[in-house]
Amino acid sequence: MKIKTHPLRLFSEWFQEEITLSKVQIPSAVCLSTNGIDGFPNARFVSFKELHNDTFVVTGPLNSRKGIEIENNAKVALTFWWTETERQIRIQGVATKISGQLADHYFNERDVYSQAVSLICEQGKAIDNLERLEKQVLEKVAQKTKISRPKNWGGYAITPIRMEFMEFKKTRFHDRKCYQKDNDTWILSQIQP
Ligand SMILES: Cc1cc2nc3c(=O)[nH]c(=O)nc-3n(C[C@H](O)[C@H](O)[C@H](O)COP(=O)(O)O)c2cc1C
Repeated sequence: MKIKTHPLRLFSEWFQEEITLSKVQIPSAVCLSTNGIDGFPNARFVSFKELHNDTFVVTGPLNSRKGIEIENNAKVALTFWWTETERQIRIQGVATKISGQLADHYFNERDVYSQAVSLICEQGKAIDNLERLEKQVLEKVAQKTKISRPKNWGGYAITPIRMEFMEFKKTRFHDRKCYQKDNDTWILSQIQP
């Protein structure tokens, strides 16, 4: 099938349409799926930052479970569901670590409370006393000093190899368009609902 719009441009158009209409607090939430080390697929929501050089950027602690899983297998999936426009986008791709400079940029965009949480908390580790940890975070915020990006905090740039755009239809005859990368060319197929 002939491609009228490049899938990354189509993604940007759909995303823009959704965020213009959306009233939810975090319209950029996306489900990031990784291949679990124990063989179970593992999925969690993260915040999609932006399209950067044709890659999808997500950020967070690199030594978290997702970080360890990506280190072990860089093949990941991103799934968006947008309620206002009733569209789903499924992306499969390969994650590579973003540069320290780019990670600094995203870290500096975070509010000071989120920065303090990233500095003090060890995401995913068991904790006996959550109140003590929160107190440490609040004390750090109260110091009003610049918080630099901790070494374990960074992000991934996900290069898509397959992207499926689905428009939900009340009739259940959903419109599904699948773009698959073949070397440097995107191949488009219409797939059945
Ligand atoms: C809407 C939403 C956005 C989130 N954004 C992020 C994010 O950008 N980065 C992140 O590390 N965790 C984010 N989280 C928390 C993750 O869902 C998850 O709890 C955390 O990354 C730990 O996952 P892991 O143990 O598999 O590494 C978000 C959660 C929600 C519900």
